Amino acid sequence: MESIITLEQQKRPWVVAHRGYRAKYPENTLAAFEAAISVEADMIELDVCLTRDRVPVVIHDKALDRTTDGKGLVSEHTLAEIQKLDAGSWFNAEFKEESIPTLEEVMLKIRGRITVNIEIKPESFEAPAPADAIETQVCKLVEMLGMADSVLISSFEHFFFARIQRWYREQKKLTALRVAPLQEAPIDDEIAVALCRRQKAYSYHPDESLVTRSLIQMLKADGYQIFPYTINDEKRMEQLIRWGVSGIISDEPERLVKVIRRLQS
Ligand code: G3P
Ligand code: CA
Repeated sequence: MESIITLEQQKRPWVVAHRGYRAKYPENTLAAFEAAISVEADMIELDVCLTRDRVPVVIHDKALDRTTDGKGLVSEHTLAEIQKLDAGSWFNAEFKEESIPTLEEVMLKIRGRITVNIEIKPESFEAPAPADAIETQVCKLVEMLGMADSVLISSFEHFFFARIQRWYREQKKLTALRVAPLQEAPIDDEIAVALCRRQKAYSYHPDESLVTRSLIQMLKADGYQIFPYTINDEKRMEQLIRWGVSGIISDEPERLVKVIRRLQS
């Protein structure tokens, strides 16, 4: 295994490839993740939910219909059924061999090559949490693979974070996985900072329309990183980098790499 790339080693604004290199490859597939690595993204972002037999798989929608040739909810299909589906042809026939990967498959492929932002989809939240809840499975997998320093967990469902932190306390581990609240609806800047404090966040991931220069300054003053999503426009990338974002989540990682290199030259 190559040496693990840790979140702390990053020097430039992070290029986070949204669902892999989504603009040019079918999202959340191994092809999209490999492409993100090849254009020198710093991190991939991916989405996980549970199959009927409770295996974490990498897919954005709760239903199979948009990105595969299957139909119905992911949670109503077994892994074996899901693995037979074509997850590439909807994007382009040349990707017909792509399938929905398990989280473990992706992690094994990328280990030591790139960091990863695992977004746990809110649909997978279970209250009360069973022993094999998605967040527990994610923690166990990351620890089993020794990848804690290259992983950032995000979610719109902020209740996952306390559970992750509790799991780490129960394991008597000193530090839990880094977590990042996702935020889509407008909230006051002060509330955003308070949210990060309450959730013991590493970073804050707002919709890009919510980002202001003062929000960036307030978050950074309190020690939080900020990674807005999803920015594909070059001018907006440039503006946010000049304002001081820690990184950008983009469907166009290659474009973002170029913008950053140009600004740094
Ligand atoms: O992590 C940022 C972004 O992926 C959140 O929204 O819907 O693209 O998963 P969505
Ligand atoms: Ca996502």
